Order: sequence, then structure tokens, then C-alpha cells
Amino acid sequence: MEKIAASVKALKIELNKVKDNALLVGFFKNKFTLSGEIKKLDNESSNIISSYIKNNKFKGENGEVKNIYSNKSIKNIVLAGLGEEEKYNFDILTNTTADISKKLRDNGTESFSIFLSSFNNGNFKDEELVEKITLSSLMGLYKFTEYKTKDKDKIEYINQITIITDSDKNFDKEIKYASVVADAVNKTRDFVNTPPNIATPQYVANYAKELAKKNNLKCTIFDEKQIKKMNMGCFIGVAQGSINKPRFVVIGYNGSEKSKKPIAIVGKGVTFDSGGLNLKPYPYILNMKDDKGGALASIHVIEACAKLKLPINLIVVTPLCENMIDASSFRPDDVLTAYNGMTVEIKNTDAEGRLILADALSYAAKSKPEAIIDIATLTGASMVTLGYVATPFLASDEKLSEKIKIASKKSLEKVWELPLWPEFEENLKSDVADIKNISEEGDAGVIIGATFLKNFVNDAPWVHIDIGTTVWSKVDKGVLVKGATGATVRLMMEMLREWR
Ligand code: BES
Ligand code: MN
Ligand code: ZN
Repeated sequence: MEKIAASVKALKIELNKVKDNALLVGFFKNKFTLSGEIKKLDNESSNIISSYIKNNKFKGENGEVKNIYSNKSIKNIVLAGLGEEEKYNFDILTNTTADISKKLRDNGTESFSIFLSSFNNGNFKDEELVEKITLSSLMGLYKFTEYKTKDKDKIEYINQITIITDSDKNFDKEIKYASVVADAVNKTRDFVNTPPNIATPQYVANYAKELAKKNNLKCTIFDEKQIKKMNMGCFIGVAQGSINKPRFVVIGYNGSEKSKKPIAIVGKGVTFDSGGLNLKPYPYILNMKDDKGGALASIHVIEACAKLKLPINLIVVTPLCENMIDASSFRPDDVLTAYNGMTVEIKNTDAEGRLILADALSYAAKSKPEAIIDIATLTGASMVTLGYVATPFLASDEKLSEKIKIASKKSLEKVWELPLWPEFEENLKSDVADIKNISEEGDAGVIIGATFLKNFVNDAPWVHIDIGTTVWSKVDKGVLVKGATGATVRLMMEMLREWR
């Protein structure tokens, strides 16, 4: 996939020396006293900024954007409202920079500069701001144009973003981190957006293999025959209704001593979920290409860890298959034997994610990992639980849960914990097998899904993250672009960079 991504650099330079199409300056509400570099720029451009503000054309409200045309070396001075100074936070910063990046791009700007200190109310480190500005503008500028054939040459891109600083600090580390993470988010989006006739299990597995090779990662791919031989009965059950054969991908990264236990990330990779014999009716069958979001996030997280040389050992396990309706499909009432030997009665073939994860989780548990994190578009019920705003998660271990919560605050990916109380196990009891795959009551959808998975992780500290809703965005707002979101990539990277 050919991609034109902007590159970001930090530069210490006087504002009146900046030669760019646009300069972005932040203002807090009712804080318009110009000082320092901004005042100098204003003086040298016939008070263009101060007179604009004096005329009450700009209030500094959060979300407000005003463009002042100038005939000087900076063609446009863009005033960005940041709202009340006391209420300022990273959400406001990232939404502002992402939204304005998009706006400038769509107006034909190819490069722009940002005046860093105008985005600091004094409560933040410049390093953090540089990282957030870089990540949010690169995420906001994402576009999926792979399948557009008309007017390709008219597609607008930004190729350079310059962060203007007033200190001698070096921001290379922050820009590198943010660029690698943005790249991981955007590549995840690319693959999740890719249609299911193209992105088959084999296609994704081949991609994972190439990615592993490029980054010197160990990678093993099991095909259908090998998956059968390993007795992954639940995974095979789901996969057997499709002509696009399953793949089981395992990638390993060693950034720490060999003796150190790995962290395992398991990602659900259903490349299309028709529901199987419990066929999804229209319109619920639409967009079920996004059911591979967990797998693609995991694959790009391990790549990003390798690129950043994080001092951890990591394995990524992704079961890849389609859930299709066919004469050979698995059925309601079938009993499948999982990789760990447990028998599972199928009550709904559309609850397939937990089945393929059951085998992948037991596989991951065998390597005695320090922790297991699974990322899965597991339920539509996640929509009822937290809507598009936050991702529900459940954890078997308090320390691990705490790590996720801290990473959530830092990454700005909102998550919320739900309980894994034993009472929920009741509704998964089967009359004929060890367990059944749904609760026919339809109660507590997200929790029941996790309660099912709990049977397959042994004693490993484990967290289940249900991105059923947050994998996809219907709106183009801030860092979100309509379509795949790359959910959990930022969250996982924040957790892993701080892992100890
Ligand atoms: N992939 C779906 C979950 C999903 C549904 C994600 C809609 C995003 C939007 C999953 O395989 C599924 O179908 N889950 C069922 C479970 C039910 C049968 C217990 C669901 O949520 O309806
Ligand atoms: Mn399903
Ligand atoms: Zn599914």
C-alpha cells in the first residue's frame, strides 16, 4: 500500500523567521495579552493578530478556529481556541491539533508549523506536548483511499509538520515514539478497513510473516492441517464453514533476557463474521470485516515494540478465520473439544470469537506468560455498556487492571472495568458439555463473554478488552477518522513502554 505520511520535526527558531503556509497558535479563553515571540510577530506584521482579537472576532472558545491571512512569510496565522485555561487537558490538545491538521490539509496546505509554548498552560512538560501533538496530528490525517480509482492525484496530503520550540531541548525521542505508534495505529486501520474478499486469513498471515521478517521477529504460521493436529477443536469448528482456510499466527519479540517470562497478547482475527448458521440479518451483517481488529492491533503493537526496542519479551497469538454459512458449517447443538480438553456446547454460532480465543488463550497460557491480554471485537453488547466513548475491560488480576487504567489515562484511550464475579458462571452451565458458549438469557453480554474466556487462561494474570464497538468510528472528529480506529494500539503501547 503506497502511503504518504507527514513527517514531524521540532525546530528552535524565531517566529518571524518561519516560512510556512500556516502557523498554528493556541489561545486560552480571555487570555489575549500577547507576549514574547507572538508579540514580536504581531508587531512585525502590522498588528494583524492583536487587531483581529480586538475586533472581537476570536474568543478562544474550545474548538474555535480562525484564520488570519498575512502577506508575510507565514501566509496564514491560525488561531486555535483552547477554552478556559483551568480546564485545559490532553483531550483538548489532541482534538484541536487533529481537527486543525485535517482542516489545513483539506484547504490544500502541504505543510504547517505549530507554536509549542502557546499550547502549554504551564501544567505540562514540553516533551509530553510534543508527543501528543505528533501522535494526534498523524492519527487525524489518516485517510483510506486504497480502493478509490478516480482523481487519485487530487487527494490532499500534508507532508511536513514543524513544531516551533523556544528551548534547546531535544524532542527526537518523543517524536520517534509518537511516529512509530501513529504508524501502528494507521496500519491497523488500513487492514481493518480492507474488504473481507481481500483480507482473508491467508492474506493477513502472509502480511504478518513479512512484517516479522522485516523486524527480525520470530514468526510461526500454522495452517488448517496443523491446527487440526494440535486439537484446536473450537477454532476448527468456527473455521470449517469457509473456503478461506484458517491460519494460526504466533509472533515473538525478545527485547529482554531470554529467561524473562513473556507478556502474551491474543487478538481475535475473524476476517468476516456472517454469524454462521445463526446468520446475522441486515443491517447487522454490515461491516463485519472489522471483526479482525484485535488481531491487527496485536500484530502492529509487536512491530512497534520491536521498532522502539522496548525492554520486554512479547508474544502475539492471532487465530485467523472466517465465520461463514455453508453445508460444512458448525451448528447450534454441536459439541466442540477445546485445545485445553474442555467440551463446549454451541448454542449460537455467532458467538464465535470466544471459541477461537478459547484455543488461542490456552495456547498462550502454555508459555507461562507473565500476563495475557486479549483484544477482541467480542460483543455487540459493548455498545449498550459504554457506547462509542469507552472500551470495557475485565481483569483476573488487580495489578494488571491497574496497569491498564494508568495506560488509559496516558494514551487517552478511555476504558472502564467490569466485574468478573463468579455469579456469572451460572448461566454458562451446559446440560451436555462442560460449558456452553452463550447465556440464552442474553444477560450481561460483555461480562458473560469474558466469563467464558476465563476458563482458558489457567492461572495467568489476564485481561480481556472488548473492542466490539470502539474498533469502528462513525464520525470524523479529532483523532478519529470515519472507519477503523486502531483501538487499543495506543493503550497497549503506553502499557508496554512502562512495563516492569
Ligand atoms: N463480532 C461479533 C461482535 C460484534 C457485533 C462486534 C456487532 C461489533 C458489532 C461477535 O462475534 C458476535 O456476533 N457476538 C454476538 C454474541 C451473542 C451471540 C452472544 C453478539 O454480540 O451479538
Ligand atoms: Mn459473531
Ligand atoms: Zn465475531
